[in-house]
Amino acid sequence: MTPPEHGGRLNAAVTCWGIPREQWLDLSTGINPHGWPVPDLPTEVWQRLPEPDDGLEIQVRQWAGAPADAACVPVAGSQEAIMALPRLRPSCRVGVPSPGYREHGHSWSCAGHHVVSLDWPQVSGEDDSWLDDLDVLVWINPNNPTGQTVDPERLLRWHQRLQRRGGWLIVDEAFVDGYPKLSLGFATGREGLVVLRSLGKFFGLAGVRAGAVLTGPALAERLRYAIGPWTVSGPARYVMRQALADKRWQAATAERLAVDSQRLGCLLAAHGLDGSSGTLLFRYVQHLRSAELADGLATQGILVRRFDQSPAVRLGLPGSEAEWERLARALAACGMSLTNR
Ligand SMILES: Cc1ncc(COP(=O)(O)O)c(C=O)c1O
Repeated sequence: MTPPEHGGRLNAAVTCWGIPREQWLDLSTGINPHGWPVPDLPTEVWQRLPEPDDGLEIQVRQWAGAPADAACVPVAGSQEAIMALPRLRPSCRVGVPSPGYREHGHSWSCAGHHVVSLDWPQVSGEDDSWLDDLDVLVWINPNNPTGQTVDPERLLRWHQRLQRRGGWLIVDEAFVDGYPKLSLGFATGREGLVVLRSLGKFFGLAGVRAGAVLTGPALAERLRYAIGPWTVSGPARYVMRQALADKRWQAATAERLAVDSQRLGCLLAAHGLDGSSGTLLFRYVQHLRSAELADGLATQGILVRRFDQSPAVRLGLPGSEAEWERLARALAACGMSLTNR
């Protein structure tokens, strides 16, 4: 099975477009360009084995608004859980959002499950009977790349319906930071509900590979057993604890991202790319000529994520003022060819 494509592949862009690495503006991911400032790490963090009772799990629960009895499993990025969970169930029927982060469907397919792609009109109505054809539903809230959201009430209704038959609801909350009302963290601890959190996006710590799973105790135990000890390194655990404790940075970042993401939406609209959706960290624009737009930006050294199945592009946030101006100039240069949809 061909692995899904991802943003952030700057080396490949260098080869493809013949533009030196340092000249690129990489907007192809939804990673905060102003990530949490990582301090120097104490030497022992590098040298000692990570200890599971270092307080990280308590901090993750606080961050996610999870009750004290919710089980928490730190993971090496939520991707680790995305790959491990399908191996914890016998072959079954799994629904995944489409479009959506494709690693979910890929991991469940690779583990021998029957994967069903679900689109927004199918799931957003009042009739939930479509759930009865599934054993597991993966939902991404807010969704990457569309930014669509499902309110917690509806998600809990879905969980109850699945759980009655021993099913699972897995909610991928990689992009939920900054939207406290959207998170299902408060409801974790019950079996059959799995919430995935990541420090790769809002905290901008994608390289350290840091995330966590919040669920019920029985499933958490099986997940811990499946991934084994020490998959989250000592430096990763240390950085997670410091970043999660830094509430002032988190509050300031949520405000800043709200301004920047709105600014990006306005910038796109000013260049004929109106009606974008997205999250605090990216905008998603459906456009018949999005491949042309992505190529037009790439020839100017700006990398964006392109989607071909249903033509669209996703742009992450520029960091500096110079980057914002560069993007504006590049969009203006592409503009001529984008007037008709
Ligand atoms: C929706 C979503 N979930 C999960 C991940 C995995 O992120 P990480 O493994 O860094 O936590 C990604 C990465 O792009 C994503 O977009």
